[in-house]
Amino acid sequence: MKLLHIDSSILGNSVSRQLTSALVDNVRRQHPALEVSYRDLAGAEIAHLSGEIIGANFTPEADWTATQRNEKVLTDELIAEFLAADVIVIGAPMYNFSIPSQLKAWIDRVAAAGRTFKYTENGPVGLAGGKKVLVASSRGGVYSTEQGRLMDFQEDYLKTVLGFLGITDVEIVRAEAVNMGEDQRATAIHAAKSAIASIAV
Ligand SMILES: Cc1cc2nc3c(=O)[nH]c(=O)nc-3n(C[C@H](O)[C@H](O)[C@H](O)COP(=O)(O)O)c2cc1C
Repeated sequence: MKLLHIDSSILGNSVSRQLTSALVDNVRRQHPALEVSYRDLAGAEIAHLSGEIIGANFTPEADWTATQRNEKVLTDELIAEFLAADVIVIGAPMYNFSIPSQLKAWIDRVAAAGRTFKYTENGPVGLAGGKKVLVASSRGGVYSTEQGRLMDFQEDYLKTVLGFLGITDVEIVRAEAVNMGEDQRATAIHAAKSAIASIAV
């Protein structure tokens, strides 16, 4: 079994990194022969998708710039790693109501027409199905209330884009209110770790 572990927090003492680590440990306990590949998207940032990078799709290879050549290698690697994984663990903190731009940059690379999704006469079809995604969601405030949900463009966005790619088996482990005092932070992390311990993969 192959697992792709992704972190995207820019913070030291990160909550989501603690949770992705616990998630990976939990899967490894259940599958000791697990093969894990790791991407720290904050430690080694993927360049935002630019006109030049995407332009390689519409330019003969002989005319590619050095950037297009290098970035194509990286994009292919990211897509292959994404498609090969049976389980993907994603650390996704909430930044400004959404996900870190580093994580969005990864999504912009792996969401590739003809490879991870395609358009048909009946609409889009995801090509990356059959895998499980475990998301470690961390937020400073509270968004699980009816009012809070209206401001959450983090968890729903991830579920939407993963669904678009054909991945419907998405489980979210959440630690929220982590910036609302030490007690609330500790309680939220403890509850998330307890939830992780009971996830069967
Ligand atoms: C740039 C930035 C933006 C943030 N925006 C929000 C936000 O919109 N809502 C919120 O509740 N918390 C916000 N936070 C707090 C983080 O969600 C919180 O610190 C969480 O623990 C981040 O996960 P991490 O510890 O894994 O980095 C933000 C933090 C940073 C650094």
